[in-house]
Amino acid sequence: MCGIIGYIGKRNAVSVILEGLKRLEYRGYDSAGIAFFSDKGIEVRRSTGKIKELASLFESEKPFSHTAVGHTRWATHGRPTEENAHPHKSHSIVLAHNGIIENYFHLKEKLVEKGYQFKSETDTEVLCHLIEDYAKTYPFEEAVRKALKEVKGTYAFVVLKEDEPGKIVGARKDSPLVIGLGEGESFIASDVPAFLNYSRNVIYIDDGEMVVMTDDGIKITGPDGNNVRKDVKSVPWSLSMAEKGGYKHFMLKEIYEQPRAIGDTLKGRFSPESGEVNFEEFGLSIDELKKTEKIFIVACGTSYHAALIGKYMIEQLAKIPVEVDIASEFRYRSPIVKPGDLMIVITQSGETADTLATQREAKRLGAKVLSICNVVGSTSSREADAVFYTHSGPEIGVASTKVFTAQVVGLYLFAVGLGKIRGVISESLAKELLRELLMLPGKVEESLAMDESISMTARDYFKARGFLFLGRGINYPIALEGALKLKEISYMHAEGYPAGEMKHGPIALIDEELPVVVLAPRDNLREKIISNIQEVKSRGGKVISIINSSDSEVHRISDKCISVPYTNPYLTTVVMAIPMQLLAYHIGVLRGCDVDQPRNLAKSVTVE
Ligand code: AGP
Repeated sequence: MCGIIGYIGKRNAVSVILEGLKRLEYRGYDSAGIAFFSDKGIEVRRSTGKIKELASLFESEKPFSHTAVGHTRWATHGRPTEENAHPHKSHSIVLAHNGIIENYFHLKEKLVEKGYQFKSETDTEVLCHLIEDYAKTYPFEEAVRKALKEVKGTYAFVVLKEDEPGKIVGARKDSPLVIGLGEGESFIASDVPAFLNYSRNVIYIDDGEMVVMTDDGIKITGPDGNNVRKDVKSVPWSLSMAEKGGYKHFMLKEIYEQPRAIGDTLKGRFSPESGEVNFEEFGLSIDELKKTEKIFIVACGTSYHAALIGKYMIEQLAKIPVEVDIASEFRYRSPIVKPGDLMIVITQSGETADTLATQREAKRLGAKVLSICNVVGSTSSREADAVFYTHSGPEIGVASTKVFTAQVVGLYLFAVGLGKIRGVISESLAKELLRELLMLPGKVEESLAMDESISMTARDYFKARGFLFLGRGINYPIALEGALKLKEISYMHAEGYPAGEMKHGPIALIDEELPVVVLAPRDNLREKIISNIQEVKSRGGKVISIINSSDSEVHRISDKCISVPYTNPYLTTVVMAIPMQLLAYHIGVLRGCDVDQPRNLAKSVTVE
């Protein structure tokens, strides 16, 4: 969602901000803007569309400044126009904001009465005028603090004041904000990639904190105005990890990184010799896990599909009942969570507003929270009782790919380890299940080798009116994921369905025009899925089956087969996910879509 970047230092702040905004593009946006100090005061430039449109405004003038802020906007209140783009300006105050000011209407009425004129349809402009109003009476930082006392909602923002050049004030509540520290320079941003080429030393700002950046350094205060001491953390990611590295798109690069991402996620976390999973890596005590009677798994989007797979794994291997929810639904169904229950939240970004709200609610109800998360230092990881990091590296493409398979692998480790310590699976079975993991990166490589065949399939069907994805059992979530990937990347309508449920409705969609992707591995449901394929074929549908190695029977009745290597039924989900990702990618490219930054989507969804 919206991205913020601010800079103070010796470099040309305008260039640093434009570069940082480029690196925040992956978050999703529809307009952008920049504000910088010059000898005329604070100047603001804004434009709709991509960063290159904004950059083109500087082609002739080439300003030089030491202090600037920039913003990419993902529209919530008001259309994506130049007037609604950030930063917004009151008389002396200039502000860029992420989040939603919920009581903006009420505040706006009060400010209009006082004579403030609004130029945009945004909720943000209210905050800008409100700070301006307080700044008539109070010093800059105090004015920000006073304004925040009146505001309800979520925010991360950076604010400048005309008569205080060389100063940026920032604050956060429920939206991410991180400081980057360099030699004689500092950065403030919504996410680390914005300044990763300059600094890997970071300070994460917590809710309620305010930061003042000047040439002399940074000062962080808590809600009471007292100084707060914060640890400087080192980011484990390098800049090259956040670059395309010769691939045409981040999405393709990230799909191809999966063998490495899975390998890194597994490193040091289990022993195939002893059949043991290192629960210290999960931050959970074995005693507590032995006593756990109920597990909830909550997530959004692709992470939710990993959660559904986790349910099959944990219930089958550890025999603990698992409830899975979409995060935005969980809180509103009055869930029965008790002290001693375990809540697993799955989130790539660690900043998804609905998921964060859920983990806070679960904590309030007395559950222990384990976050399966990819971003070190993210809000979810900091607020959880325990964290299992997927070591996938930065995921820049809006469509989640490599983190999804790493999440599934993390859940598998958890389920096997839990099954073993609870005595549900024997030591020898645990060893066998863990040994299979050692071969997984190689098997994912083999699935990736099907790329050419998948690209040909994409060419055959990219003009179809839609797609149906069918799976059964543990592969049903992979059908959901296949449909979600295709929708996001190609804007094509696609549905994921449990194959056995097809006859209760979606079968009406089937005709000669509809491609149906069927996940047909060699598992205990193979005979059933073969019957489902027959049902599609007898109505003229076109079947693309994803099979384990050769399967002549499925081959004979399908229009096209794509083979992935055989592994156990749990890990089959991982090798089956690869063709789903590649199919969506190729169809998206053939349809001329922006696969890395699909329209309307944001990489981290920081509003509810
Ligand atoms: C996946 O391709 C998505 N763009 C989206 O569904 C994503 O998985 C969802 O927003 C959850 O994000 P999170 O994992 O960062 O919490």
